[in-house]
Amino acid sequence: MNENVQNAINEQVRREFYASYLYLAMMAYFEAESLGGFAHWMRLQAQEENGHAMKLVDFLIDRGGRVELQAIDKPPRDFDSPLGVMKAALEHERKVTAWINELYELAVAERDYPAQVMLQWFIAEQVEEEKSAGDIIDQLEIAGSAGSALLMVDARLGQ
Ligand code: FEO
Repeated sequence: MNENVQNAINEQVRREFYASYLYLAMMAYFEAESLGGFAHWMRLQAQEENGHAMKLVDFLIDRGGRVELQAIDKPPRDFDSPLGVMKAALEHERKVTAWINELYELAVAERDYPAQVMLQWFIAEQVEEEKSAGDIIDQLEIAGSAGSALLMVDARLGQ
């Protein structure tokens, strides 16, 4: 397969695994704060990010490319508040969206049509991911400093 696209996908594999790692760190923070619903939501996000990385790995394999795993950075341990965590998650998703868009532009420039089709799934997925993090931020902003409202958001996320 096209080597530039292959290398860029390997880089994206690293970023998806980092996202999984980051959400796992956020899950641990919420567990430490006794916010089980948020922790459950973050655990699912971490699993989804792992799935994204594997989707890219399988694409490389199916196209006869080489998978070259990269080192994954250490995510932060501490966060300032539930709202701060969710804002960091949204910011990270926006970065991922920009990287996916860049990857798509590369696939277009290199005329790699199968990569374009595969990446369209990621483009649609990013719309969902940004929306779900944004919705939770909206609810946390409505909740403000009311602990009871925070617990209601937590209960909903635990469902
Ligand atoms: Fe795989 Fe949340 O981006």
